[in-house]
Amino acid sequence: MSDASQSNDALLRERAAKVVPGGMWGHLNATNLPKGYPQFFAKGEGAWLWDVNGRRYVDFMCAWGPNLLGYRHPEVDAAAARQNAKGDCLNGPGEAMVELAEALVDTIAAADWTQFMKNGTDATTSCVTFARAATGKRKILVARGAYHGAVPWCSPSLVGVTSEDRAHIVVYEFNDAESLAAAVAVAGDDLAAILVSAFRHDFGKDQELPSRAFAQLARQLCDAKGAALIIDEVRTGLRLDLSGSWEQFGVRPDLSAWSKAIANGYSLAAVTGADWLREAASKVFVTGSFWFGAVAMAAGIETLKIARRDDIVEHMDRLGRKLREGLNDRALKAGLQVRQTGPVQMPVMLFDDDPDCSKGNLFCSTALEAGVFFHPKHTMFLCAAHTDADIEAALQAAERGFAAVANQFQDA
Ligand SMILES: Cc1ncc(COP(=O)(O)O)c(C=O)c1O
Repeated sequence: MSDASQSNDALLRERAAKVVPGGMWGHLNATNLPKGYPQFFAKGEGAWLWDVNGRRYVDFMCAWGPNLLGYRHPEVDAAAARQNAKGDCLNGPGEAMVELAEALVDTIAAADWTQFMKNGTDATTSCVTFARAATGKRKILVARGAYHGAVPWCSPSLVGVTSEDRAHIVVYEFNDAESLAAAVAVAGDDLAAILVSAFRHDFGKDQELPSRAFAQLARQLCDAKGAALIIDEVRTGLRLDLSGSWEQFGVRPDLSAWSKAIANGYSLAAVTGADWLREAASKVFVTGSFWFGAVAMAAGIETLKIARRDDIVEHMDRLGRKLREGLNDRALKAGLQVRQTGPVQMPVMLFDDDPDCSKGNLFCSTALEAGVFFHPKHTMFLCAAHTDADIEAALQAAERGFAAVANQFQDA
């Protein structure tokens, strides 16, 4: 029976539990989050988010990445609405597909062509298939613990997965040259691709940028073996460098997977590739009923235009630095040791001596009560709509979070 005094979130959870397996599935299940986190959301605007109980948060999850320019960005939404007025899902793509493909090829240094789909998993899976089709080989090298999506070849869970699904996956350690070379040796003459995240962003771990030497080795090994270097940019795309996250190392991939931020929250993913994979990509049969929807593509064109016009990477970098420095100062003042890792616009903050994340959870629950949505273990995201005032609000909430942790754990 529903209790009228229950919150809207609790009532929705109760209803969902009856008609949705587990009430909610996957990584968005709020039962995986610290105490007090809402499951259901009512709206977003800019860098702010409202839950169904009417509470407003300064948001540092950005819809887990897609919110790049701000929720309900007026220019992106206007472009999407203009397209929607003409039609979205038709018998085939519209002009928007060609225009967006041109814009991506123009923006992304390693891209000679692009194909579209809907989710990041579609893109990483297509990259793997294109690499196998182009090389005629089977083995795919994947870094231990890396997330590339939620289908049997790459899901972090083995529930419902058979050993055959993973038969040709060979594991290496991220940023470890010896381990990568050993995995290439294991693949022998059957190496189709090395798949690598733009940086290591495994759940609950310190994040790690690749060394230039590791990035260059991955390129050299692929060249030597005639294999494809695939960079998974699903999480990183358009936040580190619009032209590609490994441009800073002088390393260009053969294939890249994109999604999340590329249409500012509209459902879109893309593979970009080098010329030598073009023919194979044209022969592989991949498609989806909604893959050619023109609304998301119109949103993607506008997102890219704004990202190039407004120097959003510089903005997120500046505010990310301010957040990182502010968090460090406040943690130190509270007598706590934290580790902040990854690029400043995609931070993770973990507490020292916190094996079960109880400090991180308490910090986040307290900050949430003070109106700021952090995550204790996952990559967080800044967006172009965050302001200096949002960072100040975040730091005030963080101060309360650190005080709560210091109170509970300092003398423990
Ligand atoms: C690096 C990376 N690759 C692939 C995916 C899968 O994307 P999607 O959830 O859109 O299928 C994700 C999603 O979080 C991701 O972070």
